[in-house]
Amino acid sequence: MAILVTGGAGFIGSHTVVELQNAGYEVVVVDNLSNSSEKSLKRVEEITGKPVKFYRADILDKPALEEVFQKESIDSCIHFAGLKAVGESVQKPWEYYYNNITGTLILLDVMRKHNVKNIVFSSSATVYGAPEVVPITEECPKGEITNPYGQTKGMLEQVLTDIYKADNEWNVILLRYFNPIGAHKSGKIGENPNGIPNNLMPYITQVAVGKLEKLGVFGNDYDTPDGTGVRDYIHVVDLAKGHVKAIEKVKENPGLKIYNLGTGIGYSVLDIVKNFEEATGISIPYEIKPRRAGDIATNYADASLAKKELGWIAENGIKEMCQDAWRWQSQNPNGFEE
Ligand code: NAD
Ligand code: WQD
Repeated sequence: MAILVTGGAGFIGSHTVVELQNAGYEVVVVDNLSNSSEKSLKRVEEITGKPVKFYRADILDKPALEEVFQKESIDSCIHFAGLKAVGESVQKPWEYYYNNITGTLILLDVMRKHNVKNIVFSSSATVYGAPEVVPITEECPKGEITNPYGQTKGMLEQVLTDIYKADNEWNVILLRYFNPIGAHKSGKIGENPNGIPNNLMPYITQVAVGKLEKLGVFGNDYDTPDGTGVRDYIHVVDLAKGHVKAIEKVKENPGLKIYNLGTGIGYSVLDIVKNFEEATGISIPYEIKPRRAGDIATNYADASLAKKELGWIAENGIKEMCQDAWRWQSQNPNGFEE
């Protein structure tokens, strides 16, 4: 039996395919490569020494998905496929709702037709909005979501919850990721954003490699120790291992479960700059800029439920996250392009 990984050529997906293969799972990847390169899967093969079964297909394309389910014996799905850029989603809400919501509805329809009722879904800490208290537990109410991307995560959590309520044969695990950064230790796979990065760590690594001049720090007047935004950064390999644990959990028929995946530690923007400089010996010039619309001051996870129920904890600290992000960027200044 195989695990279907939608979006498996992407940043988190490719790292998860590595960990699944290392744990002995058979993996089938579906990706339309709209935000990734097939080369990432070639690199995965180099890391694990195992072939990756890949279908270049869009989850909006029902006949193509049907074909995958007919050809492969799929048992569970880890669903990463989706558009994820917050700012772009404000400009292109229709595209985000169509791709993320309709795509998932089509996937779920094909899954149930083939009696595959196990799904691990990539959700996000964005569903908490601006939290009233930190650390954030899974019990914290969902907050006001300020962008269409985040809305798709909140809506899809609801869709999956309702599907489980109507049919308890489903096992639905909603994983709420905090801020994934870093890369595989081999330096062969990592984050490969199109154009100018929106997120902090890829921006920093592109400054370090000389592609960008300096970092803009979005606001230094938040109610945080140094005034810059505080987040819970998690190494992507730890995050990937969390998915393997979730797949193991599915075998216990857990029903509907929600887990935060984070480290429980908050770092400010300036903490990240300092840690990156210390870990790599490269200095990162920066300037303070105005706050970015929609940003919150602080969020970090209480990840104790994942520890208790999945036996999962994040093992890598901020130093490894910085070193590994830099190894990937320095060895692949243009991502997967030659
Ligand atoms: P990514 O863009 O690298 O990976 C997503 C993959 O999905 C890409 O390879 C893309 O080509 C593919 N895809 C998109 N639409 C598709 C479609 N219609 N059909 C088939 N494939 C499609 O992003 P990522 O950072 O690896 O994120 C993976 C998932 O985790 C996403 O759902 C994202 O929203 C979620 N998530 C990411 C973060 C983060 O900060 N990276 C945080 C929380 C949640
Ligand atoms: C981190 C901190 C910025 C860039 C986003 C999504 C969230 C989730 C993870 C998908 C903030 C500051 C950033 C820069 C900066 N993704 N920053 N200069 O906003 O916490 O979360 O990615 O689900 O939904 O919103 O991550 O990396 O963009 O920002 O000062 O050039 O770095 O203001 O304080 P964020 P980020």
